[in-house]
Amino acid sequence: MRTFLHPFFCCTLLFFLCLLPAAHAYTPSRPAGLKVEYLVNPIGIDAAQPRFSWRLIDERTGAKQTAYQLFLSTDSQDLKKGMVWQSAKISGAASLVAYAGKSLQPFTRYYWRVDIWDKDGLQASSAIASFETGMMDKRNWQGAWISDVNDEAVKPAGQFRKVFEAPKKIRSARAYIAVAGLYELYINGQRIGDQRLDPMYTRFDRRTLYVTHDVTTQLQAGKNAIGVLLGNGWYNHQSTAVWYFHKAPWRARPAFCLDLRITYEDGSIETITSGKDWKTALGPVVFNSIYTAEHYDARLEQAGWNTANFDDSKWKAVLLRAAPSNNIVAQALHPIRAVEEIAPQSMNRISDTVYVFDLGRNISGVSRIKVSGEAGTILRLKHAEQLYSNGRADLSNIDVHYRPTDDKDPFQTDIFILAGKGEESFMPRFNYKGFQFVEVTSNKPVTLTKESLTGYFMHSQVPVAGQIKSSNNTINKIWWATNNAYLSNLFGYPTDCPQREKNGWTGDAQIAIETGLYGFDGITVYEKWLADHRDEQQPNGVLPSIIPTGGWGYEWGNGPDWTSTIAIIPWNIYLFYGDKKLLADCYDNIKLYVDHINELYPSGLTTWGLGDWVPVKSKSPVEFTSTAYYFADATILAKAAKLLGKEADHKKYSALAAKIKDAFNGKYFNKDKFTYGSGLQTELSVALYWGLVPVEHKSKVAETLAKRVEQDNFHLDVGLLGTKAILNALSENGYGDVAYKLAAQETYPSWGWWIVNGATTLYENWDINAGSDLSRNHIMFGEIGGWLYKGIGGIKPDEGAAGFRNVILEPNFVAGLDQFEAVHEGPYGNIIATWKRNAGMINWSVTVPANSTATIYLPVADGQQLYENGKLVTGAGGVIRGAGRNGWGKQVYQVSAGTYHFEIR
Ligand code: BGC
Repeated sequence: MRTFLHPFFCCTLLFFLCLLPAAHAYTPSRPAGLKVEYLVNPIGIDAAQPRFSWRLIDERTGAKQTAYQLFLSTDSQDLKKGMVWQSAKISGAASLVAYAGKSLQPFTRYYWRVDIWDKDGLQASSAIASFETGMMDKRNWQGAWISDVNDEAVKPAGQFRKVFEAPKKIRSARAYIAVAGLYELYINGQRIGDQRLDPMYTRFDRRTLYVTHDVTTQLQAGKNAIGVLLGNGWYNHQSTAVWYFHKAPWRARPAFCLDLRITYEDGSIETITSGKDWKTALGPVVFNSIYTAEHYDARLEQAGWNTANFDDSKWKAVLLRAAPSNNIVAQALHPIRAVEEIAPQSMNRISDTVYVFDLGRNISGVSRIKVSGEAGTILRLKHAEQLYSNGRADLSNIDVHYRPTDDKDPFQTDIFILAGKGEESFMPRFNYKGFQFVEVTSNKPVTLTKESLTGYFMHSQVPVAGQIKSSNNTINKIWWATNNAYLSNLFGYPTDCPQREKNGWTGDAQIAIETGLYGFDGITVYEKWLADHRDEQQPNGVLPSIIPTGGWGYEWGNGPDWTSTIAIIPWNIYLFYGDKKLLADCYDNIKLYVDHINELYPSGLTTWGLGDWVPVKSKSPVEFTSTAYYFADATILAKAAKLLGKEADHKKYSALAAKIKDAFNGKYFNKDKFTYGSGLQTELSVALYWGLVPVEHKSKVAETLAKRVEQDNFHLDVGLLGTKAILNALSENGYGDVAYKLAAQETYPSWGWWIVNGATTLYENWDINAGSDLSRNHIMFGEIGGWLYKGIGGIKPDEGAAGFRNVILEPNFVAGLDQFEAVHEGPYGNIIATWKRNAGMINWSVTVPANSTATIYLPVADGQQLYENGKLVTGAGGVIRGAGRNGWGKQVYQVSAGTYHFEIR
């Protein structure tokens, strides 16, 4: 089982890698962490100009790269031999570079290396890394799309098989499999890969993903068998709910296309393909729904169905099918896996036919049961987030949008029918759920122990990129619960909740983007999801509120407060990775979107949106919040235009942004009282956070907000749009202490209130006894996770040198907290910021990774001094005292890469 890799562990690993002998004169500097398209040695890449990235490992103060050169070859040992591309030696610190050589060939493994020159001009080479291209072009597919002859209403999952002869010794082999639906691939009886729920969900009739597997070791010279099991996923949604996925335009019986490309030892190539010579039969997965559950009848298993000697004379011929879309592209992202295995904390035996397991924490994923019993015994495994007072599973908070047409498809309830062959186990393949409790009922007595069931936390396995530790345990738990909710809602696209909906709600995702990117290296998932946006956008610019969608969501919930994902996500990817590609890919889409709002709302004020969803009590006007998002979009568009060299657009959209701002302030800003609207928490913080408050009035408006929060007794009175803004609006404007009081609050309504009441994920409602809208695994109030890095740790990207090329370090040594540590692994390495109170002084240690710099803003009051390693900072040396103080009276310093121990006394 995989578990999280702690960033410090990665650091240690990189350190040992550094000790490997260098190819050139000794230098303490070394490029490492090589990635292509943000993945380590990926296979099956379709990008015509793949992006290469690396980082500099160099512990020295002031460490930087002064030049680099890339080498790309088809020879694994000697890059000169099969040289395909050699960049010029390019001066500067760049460590993200797109391929610029002649066209790459499909099905080809390329090897590459980067040489860097360090701050002293010494050269060092990286180890050799690789990547392998996939189909590159849809015309390279040889297989046919096939399925069985059943129609979309048929429930059991189809199994497919083919036996073939490999006449010679095999050097290597790749399976390329494109699927409308979900699949499991087997070769000679062995399951290929540990991914789950592949391929990822897309708008299948516009873009279909294929996955590449290295199957060299599973094949053998002689007879081989390929087996494919197809699941429905979002492609053939048989369950019925309010979003009409069962009526999706793409819906059909699952189908697939497979090319198994074998390279023999003698260099010859043979491709085994899907086609008319395959055979099919229904299997033991008698029902599978991504939305509800899976039913499995072990009596229907056909042992060895995916091996060569199986007798398939009773199996049927397959059906040739049209491809689901014209756009079959490589899935180049971190897969979904069962990442953590969770043993139940307790089991409650209610009777010999009813058992309730408690995992002790809420997760997204599946359970596996191991059990012995008579053939035909029917077990039902009901997955719930809460229990009734009698200890039984309670689904009433999550089954409200489900519209079953009969009782055959119970919500979040797997059904397992035993074959009666001793101990048997079941874990669903084509479904996941949101749950903490599993109630197992059986139609005949069975004996279960606490060990009979295991939970698996499933999600897109994005690498961990952040760590928060503080002296306040409630804050630590909020951070952990936020990460759990974030990951529970990441399945190749961000979702709202893993149980009731599993929808790609745009609003929830724009709120969570920073929390996501501070904590996890998620770029691959977001690039894929923004491609889903481009697939869904109407020619007039309108986007649906859930993405992907089967058609629902163009009418409801899709105003700028939700669907501004089209601008906000690419902008944050730029800030965190310094990569303009997603902004460039989405540029026309952002423009279309902004132009559309401009046409509909020429005044600059827009009423299009849902507003501050699930608020505590006060509701701010929709026009207020939606206009703020419209302003954010126009601003991002203007900045993107500048970055991409589109001067005329830059001018045009800067002017539009200014017009929106004027209209907004004209209607809502009360200049005499320094307040907005009716002075609600959401109104004041949204205006501040999204930059609508005229600079000269910011401090006064922030003061109004701080007073308002105090009047509200340091409790929240916001919905999801307010939570995005409020902590930042306070901590960015001189009220870090007030923000911290809100963040660490433990009575209702607050994040801490959930924690005190046992939450291990974030909820959908501040009121834990609410009658509706109470999923227990929502990320929509999750901005607090990202805020901890920014608002207390002080680690922020710098728009002017994005991707943490220059880091902004602006900690808040907030009252009531003694110690705080934030680590974020950015493109240049670990940024570490730790502070501690020490007898009235503050010790503050920071690490700025090699090849980057930092601008520091510190609250050094008059009469206080800053010391570095015990020495007074005078302005000379590594720490440069900048031009006085910023707007909040903080001293400004500039530092180069390195680790610094400061003291304010
Ligand atoms: C979802 C939310 C979503 C909202 C839109 C709810 O049903 O769970 O998270 O943003 O609808 O209003």
